[in-house]
Amino acid sequence: MKVAVLKETRAGEHRVALVAQGVQTLSKSGLEVVVESGAGEAAGISDDGYKQAGASIAGSAAEALKGAGLVLLINPPEAATVTGLAEGTILVSFLSPMTDHALVKSLKDRKVTAISMEMVPRITRAQSMDALSSQATVAGYKAVLMAADALPKFLPMFTTAAGTIRPAKVLILGAGVAGLQAIATARRLGAVVEAFDVRPAVKEQVESLGAKFLETEHDVTAEGEGGYAKELSEEQHRKELDLIATHIADADVVLTTAQIPGRKAPVLVTADMVKSMKPGSVIVDLAAESGGNCELTKAGETVVAHGVTVLGPSNLPATIPVHASQMYSKNIVTLVGEFVDKEGAVNLDFANDVVGPSTVTHAGEIVNERVKEAVGA
Ligand SMILES: NC(=O)c1ccc[n+]([C@@H]2O[C@H](COP(=O)([O-])OP(=O)(O)OC[C@H]3O[C@@H](n4cnc5c(N)ncnc54)[C@H](O)[C@@H]3O)[C@@H](O)[C@H]2O)c1
Repeated sequence: MKVAVLKETRAGEHRVALVAQGVQTLSKSGLEVVVESGAGEAAGISDDGYKQAGASIAGSAAEALKGAGLVLLINPPEAATVTGLAEGTILVSFLSPMTDHALVKSLKDRKVTAISMEMVPRITRAQSMDALSSQATVAGYKAVLMAADALPKFLPMFTTAAGTIRPAKVLILGAGVAGLQAIATARRLGAVVEAFDVRPAVKEQVESLGAKFLETEHDVTAEGEGGYAKELSEEQHRKELDLIATHIADADVVLTTAQIPGRKAPVLVTADMVKSMKPGSVIVDLAAESGGNCELTKAGETVVAHGVTVLGPSNLPATIPVHASQMYSKNIVTLVGEFVDKEGAVNLDFANDVVGPSTVTHAGEIVNERVKEAVGA
């Protein structure tokens, strides 16, 4: 079977879905990999690098797609790409299926088997296929570096002949995959770190990374299905804001990552809280694209208010394309291994506990119940 890897078309995207090592692995399974020319360039993989790994190079996306049975991408495909997919093609990519209903419908209508990286279940067996986690790791790391860069202070403590510098204080709100990596990175840079999450289970993980978990006598816990958070009640949300307000004025850096699947991100940092912070402090809002955790965040922009810099970066994983692509490629190759056997034959088994839940459309139907409900089809 022919596997097509296309050049990502999203503005500012530097990642590629499959790196050279991934080409080798898929080729060994009897698959024939075709990469669109230039697809890996921004991630440090030349066309020659792909050829050496066993791929062939196509001059355009249309050429790569010709006769392809499997298409690998990172970002959801544009309409023109969907039109270029033959009936029965398997597409593996991020697809935002809960919100991009038009895309889901177009994939269904083209009778494409669309496998969504967002829908890979968060189960132990599927950890190596979990691109939400691998890319959140990249984002959490980079967010701390951005904060350090924007901060007019050091992060670590320094004891020098020119005096002693106290370490910066970092407050992290939301300690999921990105938040935990942000804690680890800020700690490596010598900052003093505090963190809060509505899932009490993460307290131990936060502490094991050398940060302090903020506690309150009020119940602000909201553990939902599958280990995810659910929305707090209004009363609980008010209590959480009180807790944050008592800690934020002291923080040099605030990094927010709080998300609730399928919902707008909760507001955790109000405009008044920003006003209470020291001039020169920095907020990095990793939930910018889903509405923002800070009231003043503007997605993709930098806002300065009351002397506080509020960064709302979008697509941070694209800024570390070499390793973000390497990790994504590992995720996607492992997932492909769930439905392609060692001889390269496709066996889509929807009873498989990873393939079943991740498949969104197949043979002209929306086959994922949650997506079907969201799309209203
Ligand atoms: N394969 C696996 O087993 C696997 C892999 C990755 C993640 N997980 C689990 O999935 C869950 C979520 O991970 P994620 O990083 O994708 O989460 P996410 O990106 O959906 O959310 C980030 C964090 O924000 C927190 N949050 C939500 N509302 C909040 C609020 N009001 N205040 C403070 N924090 C708030 C969430 O609890 C979460 O920790 C975790 O339980 C994690 O352990 C499991």
